[in-house]
Amino acid sequence: MKRHSLANRLSLLLSLAVMVIFSLSGIALYHSLAAQIGVRDDAALLTRIDQIRTLLRDEDAITLIQQKPRLFANMLGNTESLLVLRFPGQPPLIVVNPGQRPVPTITPVAADQPLALSSVHHQVSEDGTPFISAAALTSTRDGSGEIEIVTGRLMSDRTQTLNSYRNQIIVATALAALMVAAISIALVRRSLAPVRHLAAEADAIDARHLAPRMPDPSLTELQPLIASFNQMLSRLERGYQQLSQVSADMAHDLRTPINTLIGQTEVALSQTRRVGDYQALLGSNYEELERLAKMIDNMLFLAKAEDASQVLDLQAIDLARLGDKLQDYFDGMAEEQAMQLDMALHGELHADAQLLQRALANLMANALRYGDRHSTVRIFNQGTALMVENHGPAITEEQQARIFDRFWRADTARQHSSSGLGLSIVRSIMQLHHGSCSVRSADGVNRFMLQFPD
Ligand SMILES: Nc1ncnc2c1ncn2[C@@H]1O[C@H](COP(=O)(O)OP(=O)(O)OP(=O)(O)O)[C@@H](O)[C@H]1O
Ligand SMILES: [Mg+2]
Repeated sequence: MKRHSLANRLSLLLSLAVMVIFSLSGIALYHSLAAQIGVRDDAALLTRIDQIRTLLRDEDAITLIQQKPRLFANMLGNTESLLVLRFPGQPPLIVVNPGQRPVPTITPVAADQPLALSSVHHQVSEDGTPFISAAALTSTRDGSGEIEIVTGRLMSDRTQTLNSYRNQIIVATALAALMVAAISIALVRRSLAPVRHLAAEADAIDARHLAPRMPDPSLTELQPLIASFNQMLSRLERGYQQLSQVSADMAHDLRTPINTLIGQTEVALSQTRRVGDYQALLGSNYEELERLAKMIDNMLFLAKAEDASQVLDLQAIDLARLGDKLQDYFDGMAEEQAMQLDMALHGELHADAQLLQRALANLMANALRYGDRHSTVRIFNQGTALMVENHGPAITEEQQARIFDRFWRADTARQHSSSGLGLSIVRSIMQLHHGSCSVRSADGVNRFMLQFPD
């Protein structure tokens, strides 16, 4: 899986955001400044024409210009890139044109008209520098008619100012993005310090130290994660304790029959015996080994049933037929115990046939084993709820809470050669079927119920 650093990601995103914001506001400011400077330049050009108009209204102005055109050219043309004074249709009186630009052909503003910003013409020279120009007529006092003033300016200053302003914006944007990147990396690293602290705490938890819990984090965002983590630890701890208990019980339950086998075999080997004795010993060992084999079988079944992916062979089961089969199977045992079986299963049920039979068989074996002599064991159903009922000593609430646990046996049951796995197998089977099992003990009747889903 590709790994990402939160700090790098965040700093990259924030820098991008800052760059976009700075660039947009920079572009807006640049355009507003360009527009303002443009208006200012246009107004300055018009003021210049106004000044020349005023000058030319002087009575002697034209005569003086005609006498000393160079003096006037130098005096008037100090700020313009282009200045032409001429009587329409005659050669110009003054021409100032250091850049040798073609004189723009503009309709001049009439002599009696005031100058307005709209009178300024905008062009762009070959190198991209803006060129503004305006023309106006003005009447002279000496009666020589109207004179035309054509003036223009190459706005190299403006281009330079705007270019340097644009460069400043670019530098400021880049610097701001870099600063934001650095600050956000530092901030994220700082903010993630509690996570590193929690990781160190989590490192201390292992299978032998499941009791510690993660402390409440200082970051509220981490609280749900830590709460779930702590809950998971509690579940693991419980599961681990149960597992340890099961292995301890298992070791204990396996040790007893094996010790018996060893003891009996040792005694038999200590001196020569008659064939009959050996046969008796082998017979008893065989019984013990069978019990061990059954127990191991049950443990394997439980281990397998815990695998949730176990597939059930669900089918419609004719309960009456299953009842007959179980009755045949348990008749002998019931007779041995001087008990009766009242089999009243009916209808159909969707379940795994083998597992259902095993669950019912375990309940019936218990009822016959722990029920009162000369009493009746009732097996019946109400829809998808299957009941096995026997008369016998009450099962206390405390016992009921633990009765489905692995290896749990009531003290009174220890005399029987039982392993305490039957009911936990029943519970596993019901869990596999997404059903439930329960026990109820009242008025001398113990009832175990298997509730299958409808
Ligand atoms: N019908 C019952 N009446 C009274 N006590 C019962 C009944 N069924 C079970 N118990 C008690 O619950 C304990 C657990 O039953 P479970 O069937 O799990 O194990 P087990 O019968 O002892 O051994 P296993 O079934 O593995 O041979 C029994 O030892 C017994 O003390
Ligand atoms: Mg049992």
